Amino acid sequence: MRAAGTSVFTESGRELLDFTSGQMSAILGHSHPAIVSTVREQVAHLDHLHSGMLSRPVVELARRLAGTLPEPLEKALLLTTGAEANEAAVRMAKLVTGRHEIVSFARSWHGMTQAAANATYSAGRKGYGPAAPGNFALPVPDRYRPSVVGPDGELDWRRQLDLGFEMIDAQSVGSLAACLVEPILSSGGVVELPPGYLAALADKCRERGMLLILDEAQTGLCRTGDWYAFEHEGVVPDILTLSKTLGAGLPLAAVLTSAEIERRAHERGFLFFTTHVNDPLPAAVGNTVLDVLVRDRLDERARALGAALREGLDKLAARHEVVGDVRGRGLLLGMELVGDQVLGEGGADRLGAAVTRRCFELGLHMNIVQLPGMGGIFRIAPPLTASDDEIARGVAVLDQALTDAAGAL
Ligand SMILES: Cc1ncc(COP(=O)(O)O)c(C=O)c1O
Repeated sequence: MRAAGTSVFTESGRELLDFTSGQMSAILGHSHPAIVSTVREQVAHLDHLHSGMLSRPVVELARRLAGTLPEPLEKALLLTTGAEANEAAVRMAKLVTGRHEIVSFARSWHGMTQAAANATYSAGRKGYGPAAPGNFALPVPDRYRPSVVGPDGELDWRRQLDLGFEMIDAQSVGSLAACLVEPILSSGGVVELPPGYLAALADKCRERGMLLILDEAQTGLCRTGDWYAFEHEGVVPDILTLSKTLGAGLPLAAVLTSAEIERRAHERGFLFFTTHVNDPLPAAVGNTVLDVLVRDRLDERARALGAALREGLDKLAARHEVVGDVRGRGLLLGMELVGDQVLGEGGADRLGAAVTRRCFELGLHMNIVQLPGMGGIFRIAPPLTASDDEIARGVAVLDQALTDAAGAL
C-alpha cells in the first residue's frame, strides 16, 4: 500500500481518493515533497533529545505558532497526540484555577487518555468503570436537529445554553475549572456552532471563573478557510490545543496559552513531562507545515475549494432525496442522510454503510459518523492541496454511489 497527494493506492494498485485526509490529518496530502525532505534531513541531523533540551526547530515552531495566533496566545508546549494535548490543557486549567470540574459537549471527542476520555461523550464511555467526578455534558447546538426550539421552530441556542448551564450549576460542587470544546464538532456530526454561540459560551465561562479551552485538532491550520476556526467568531480561547493537522499526518500536537496562564501554571509547578515533548524531528515537520500553508496560501485555497465542494454537495442534496443536510466550513463539510423516513428504522445507518462501501468500490474513501439515532453523517475533509479535478471526481463518485446504494436497499 502507498499514498501520494490526495490518493491512497491499495496493494493491488487500485486508487482511492482520500476524502478523509487519512485520520482527518493529512492537510497537505500524503508524502508532500516538502515534508519528505524535512523528515529526511532532520532525522539525519537531529532526531530526538532529552525532553528538557530545547532545540532550534522547537523554539522556532513555538514562536511561529504564536505569530499565527491573536494575543495573548504566545506560549507553546509541543507534544505528540491530540489526547495528550487536551490532557495537558485540562491539567493546566485545573492547576491554574485550583478547581477540577470540566464541561464539554454531549457529542464530543477529545481523545482516549484519562482527562480527554472523561470529557468525551460521543463514544467509548460505557463499560470502563467510573469516569472522574466533575465532568458535565452540555447539549449540542445542532440546528438541523434542534432540541430546544423557538416559536419559529428553529434552534433557540441561547435558551439551550442557559438551560445547559442551569443544569451544570445545579450539579457543580463549586469547582468549575474549564470548558473544553471544538469550534466545529467533527466526530459529533460536523456541527458548526451557531454565530454568537462561542462568544456566549466564553461569557458563561468568564462569569464562573472557568477557562475556555478550544480543541482545534481538526479545524486548526487553515482547514476551515481561516487559520483557526475560532477566528470566525472573534473569540480568543484561554488555551488552544492543536494536533492532527499541525503535523499534517505525522504525530505532533501543541498547547498554546497566554503568558499570564503559563506563569501561574509554572509558579504552581505545572508538570507535563513526556518522552517526546519538545522533540526536534516533529517540530521541524511543524515548521514545514507552516511554510507550505503560508507559501501556498492554503487558507484561501481551503475557502475556494471548500466552496466548490459545497456547491457539488448542494447539487447532490437537490437531486437525492436521502440527503437531508449539507453543512460545515471550508474543507470540513458534513453531509447527513435521512434514510429513516424512506427506509424505516436504522435506514440512514444502513444507507450510510452502503454508500461508503460503494464509494470504496468506485475509488473514494469516505468516513461516516454513526451516532445513535441520528442517521449517517459523512465527514468530508480532503487535503487542502487537492486539485479542482480531484474534488469534482470525488463528488461524481459520491453521486453515483448514492444512486446505486439507494437503489439497492
Ligand atoms: C477534536 C479531537 N480532539 C482530540 C482528538 C484525539 O486525538 P488523538 O487521536 O491524536 O489523540 C481527536 C481525534 O480524533 C479529535 O478529533
